[in-house]
Amino acid sequence: MIRYADAIRFDRLAERGRNEPLRVTAETDQGDEIEVFLKPSARPEIGIEGMANEIFAACVGSHVGVPVCEPIAVRMSSDWISSVQDPLIRDVLSRSSPVAFGSLAAGSGWRRWTSDERLIGERRGAALSTFVFDAFIENRDRVVSNPNLLIRGDSFRVIDHELCFRIRLCLFPRAEPWRMGYLQNTVSPGATGHVFGALLKADRYVDFTPIRPAWAGLSDDALSDYAACLPTEWVDAASAIDDALTHLRTVRDRIDECLMEIERALA
Ligand SMILES: Nc1ncnc2c1ncn2[C@@H]1O[C@H](COP(=O)(O)OP(=O)(O)O)[C@@H](O)[C@H]1O
Ligand SMILES: [Mg+2]
Repeated sequence: MIRYADAIRFDRLAERGRNEPLRVTAETDQGDEIEVFLKPSARPEIGIEGMANEIFAACVGSHVGVPVCEPIAVRMSSDWISSVQDPLIRDVLSRSSPVAFGSLAAGSGWRRWTSDERLIGERRGAALSTFVFDAFIENRDRVVSNPNLLIRGDSFRVIDHELCFRIRLCLFPRAEPWRMGYLQNTVSPGATGHVFGALLKADRYVDFTPIRPAWAGLSDDALSDYAACLPTEWVDAASAIDDALTHLRTVRDRIDECLMEIERALA
């Protein structure tokens, strides 16, 4: 269900990002040449679990109507790694899993969201889906100071999901988006609030109706299929993804309580 590709050229490093993704040209198994932002497992914050979170979150996001970039599983042959000129990058790649996470480049005309953007017109629906998505996948990494969000006209692309889920590490507070008050911090104004939190809270025209059917329709079969499309090389992430699956099933089964908290936080 996800596309595989072989890395064929290292172009340059991305201009931004804590993990300095690599801009790489790759050839898909169907023969298309594509450009990806590559996150190999040996980058400090990524690891196998971070790559698995990226793909799993992108699959769930696209199921519930969040505008994600297509995730690609990118094979890196040892010949290709040897052909990379920069010794530091070559070293990172050779210490990484031979399959890396790739995010299909959004393409031309996209820029990063900045805090002087406004939430108008069609942007509202995608902003609400994104806010809900981040609340339900435990993503604290789309905040005012680091939006991980691209915009072109009124369209968005969300990126960067390696730090989401990590359910076992969520202890104080536990991952309970169905609990009243859970989302309070995400709507606070300031650098650490969710990129859309304060904006949606100030907006009287937000339409909540599409959210429930999207999440209530996240079937067990679909969730298992998404978990099953993770590369077999990433088996070390299996139990973390199991926890993510259990968490999402609970969100789905308790969707009314979750939505009550979303609406309360944004009221
Ligand atoms: N699919 C993509 N399309 C376009 N730009 C991207 C894409 N993925 C990442 N980028 C760019 O690379 C930067 C770093 O990527 P990101 O996934 O946020 O990595 P990090 O974990 O290092 O923050 C982003 O801020 C964005 O500018
Ligand atoms: Mg980022």
